[in-house]
Amino acid sequence: MIYKTIHVEASRSYDIIIGRDILPQIAGSIRPLTGDCRLCILTDSTVDALYGDKLVDLLTDAGFAADKFVIPAGEASKCADNLLDFLNFLAECKYTRSDALIAFGGGVVGDLCGLSAALYLRGVKYIQIPTTLLAAVDSSVGGKTAIDIPAGKNLVGAFYQPVLVYCDTALMDTLSPEIYRDGCAEVIKYGVILDKQLYEILQRQPFEREYVVSRCVEIKRDVVQQDEFDNGLRGLLNFGHTFGHAVEKLSDFAVSHGAAVAKGMLLAARMAPLCGLCNVADELVELLHQYGFDLSVDYSADEIYEAILSDKKRRGGDITVVLPRAIGNCTLVTLPVERLYELLKQILTEDYEYKA
Ligand SMILES: NC(=O)c1ccc[n+]([C@@H]2O[C@H](COP(=O)([O-])OP(=O)(O)OC[C@H]3O[C@@H](n4cnc5c(N)ncnc54)[C@H](O)[C@@H]3O)[C@@H](O)[C@H]2O)c1
Repeated sequence: MIYKTIHVEASRSYDIIIGRDILPQIAGSIRPLTGDCRLCILTDSTVDALYGDKLVDLLTDAGFAADKFVIPAGEASKCADNLLDFLNFLAECKYTRSDALIAFGGGVVGDLCGLSAALYLRGVKYIQIPTTLLAAVDSSVGGKTAIDIPAGKNLVGAFYQPVLVYCDTALMDTLSPEIYRDGCAEVIKYGVILDKQLYEILQRQPFEREYVVSRCVEIKRDVVQQDEFDNGLRGLLNFGHTFGHAVEKLSDFAVSHGAAVAKGMLLAARMAPLCGLCNVADELVELLHQYGFDLSVDYSADEIYEAILSDKKRRGGDITVVLPRAIGNCTLVTLPVERLYELLKQILTEDYEYKA
């Protein structure tokens, strides 16, 4: 049953349909947007094994011609080789501008498919069917698409909005606890940055998935509508990410994205009172522990600082970080990088509570 339809007004307007067990009705939502066209599903090996045939059958039974292109599961698939292979596949199958692509999977598939849609024939329609919690609340919404290149993650991409996001929360039942928890880090992030009520709901597990996904999507929608091309406010969504990306990178991606964001959120919360803001760190620790996050940080202030600077691809100047003023209220703080280094040294002393 459809739980909620959320409308996004951006450079392209579209609906995000959220509900449980709604996949069987998907064709009815696609047809008004595309007419009778060919649909090419991009998915990964795990999602394909679980749900690939089901989606193809649903679409073909409804009269669509559907093809499938499967990439290996995992971040390594978000690469230039797969982008080109997929584009070649579309060209060889003679997909036209009136056909559409479907991203069926987590953020890896969503980002790769979105960029392919932006590039193929200078732009074709695409639909997001997120199958991870992270993709549902974050990557499928807002139109950021990208691949990783050897020089860094997400360095090649485009802003390109889908025509529809169709989120069946039942698909997440098969996620491993670790991957589900990764998504919970992003959900907690939304609570801290903009919604105290959501944060309080998250304190009572298990949460109602449809409500939580809808609320996070509304928050992201509201931010994206005000700053689609990431020139200011959208930076709020990076709470925990500046430090998290540094940890992820230093661990050579052994620490997953969500686990790194959890550590990053705590580092930001510990930094806030040193910048004259409120101290919500202890409260945040309690919630993150409740979700089973390991909050230890194995790296020194020097290592984290260097990783942040290399991530930003520059030296010197200012850097903007997201710091909490209170639960449900974060702010963007721009600091000289030297000040950031000082703050990191103050936090990550030998007796940092979560030093591994
Ligand atoms: N575009 C954006 O705005 C944005 C925002 C946040 C993250 N991202 C990107 O998203 C990616 C991370 O996304 P992710 O965490 O979804 O990773 P992912 O796509 O790699 O999925 C994680 C794992 O879950 C498996 N999986 C997916 N759905 C499943 C299901 N229903 N049941 C069982 N297993 C399933 C996948 O096969 C994969 O192994 C990163 O590349 C990140 O850069 C993009």
